[in-house]
Amino acid sequence: MDGRLQVFAGNGNRKLAEDIMATLEAPLGRAIVDCWRNGETRVKLDENVRGSDVFIIQALADPVNHHLVELLIMIDAVRRSSAARITAVIPYFAYAKQEKKTGGREPISAKLVANLLVTAGVDRVLTLDLHAPAIEGFFDIPVDHLRATPLLASAFRRMAVEDIVAVSPDAGGVGRAEDFRVRSGGSLAIISKKRPSPDEAEVIEMVGDVAGKTAVIVDDMISTGGTLVQAADMLIERGAARVYAAAVHGIFAGNAAELIAKSSIEKVIVTDTLPLHTAAQNGSIEILTVAPLLAEAITRIHKDLSISALFH
Ligand code: R5P
Repeated sequence: MDGRLQVFAGNGNRKLAEDIMATLEAPLGRAIVDCWRNGETRVKLDENVRGSDVFIIQALADPVNHHLVELLIMIDAVRRSSAARITAVIPYFAYAKQEKKTGGREPISAKLVANLLVTAGVDRVLTLDLHAPAIEGFFDIPVDHLRATPLLASAFRRMAVEDIVAVSPDAGGVGRAEDFRVRSGGSLAIISKKRPSPDEAEVIEMVGDVAGKTAVIVDDMISTGGTLVQAADMLIERGAARVYAAAVHGIFAGNAAELIAKSSIEKVIVTDTLPLHTAAQNGSIEILTVAPLLAEAITRIHKDLSISALFH
C-alpha cells in the first residue's frame, strides 16, 4: 500500500472495517474513538496524517446519531491534522429515506446529513446503495456510489436457482430489481406499496406473473421487515412456488427478524454493510461481505483509477 494512504474507522461496523483492512493487507490507523464520561464523543488520532490520503470508515448503524457524530468528529480531527484529502466511507448511509418532504413542516434530513459531512471537512464520499440515488446530488463534492446488486445476484447464480422472478417491492426499487434480473436471468414483477403510517407498509397491487416461479424480493434495506412480509404474502397468494429475499442493508429493526422467520420467506440474503442485529443471528440469514468491493474502491480512489469498472 502507498505510504500516504491511511484508513481509520469509527465504531459503526468495526468488523467490516477490519475485513476491508485484511483485504488491503494493512492495519487500521490507530485512534481513540470512544466517549467521555459525560457522554460526549472523544476522538484522538494516534498517528500523523499530515499530507495523507485519509479514508474514514463508518457505517451509520444504530445508534445512528451517535455514529454520525463520531464520523463528523473524526473528520474534524483529520482535517485539523492537515490531511491532504479525506474520504468518508459510509457503507450504510442513514437518513436516506428522509430525502424529500412527504408533507408540510417536515425536514429533508438526508440533505442535512450531507451538509454536516461537508461542513466537517470531508472531500469525497464512498457509499453503497443509497436509498435514493438523487442523494448524490445533495453533495457538491464527488460521491462514489457503489451497488451491491452484482454480489447479491451472483449468490443466486451460485445457488443455481431456476425460474427466478425478481420482485421490486415498490416503485422506487424497480431499477435495482431490473438490474438483479439482468444478472440472474428470469423475469420481473413490480409491487405497488403505500405507507399508511410511518414504518408501516401496505401492499396494494402487483404487475407480473409469479405463478410457479421462485420469487426473489430485491430491496435496498430491511428495516421493520413489513415491506418484505407483506410482499411475500402477496407473492404466495399469486402462486409463487417459493419466496426468497435479497437486500443490501440488513437493519432488522425491532422484531423484524422474528416477523421474517414466521413468514413464508425461505431465505434472506443481506450484505455486511451493518453489523447483524443479535435477533437476526439465527443462522437463517446469509451474509455476503462487501469488504473486497470497498477495499478495491478505496485502492482505486487512492490511485485515481476508474470506479465504474467495479459495476460490471
Ligand atoms: C422503501 O421504502 C425501501 O426501499 C424499503 O422497501 C424499506 O425501507 C423497507 O423498510 P421496512 O422493512 O421497514 O418495510
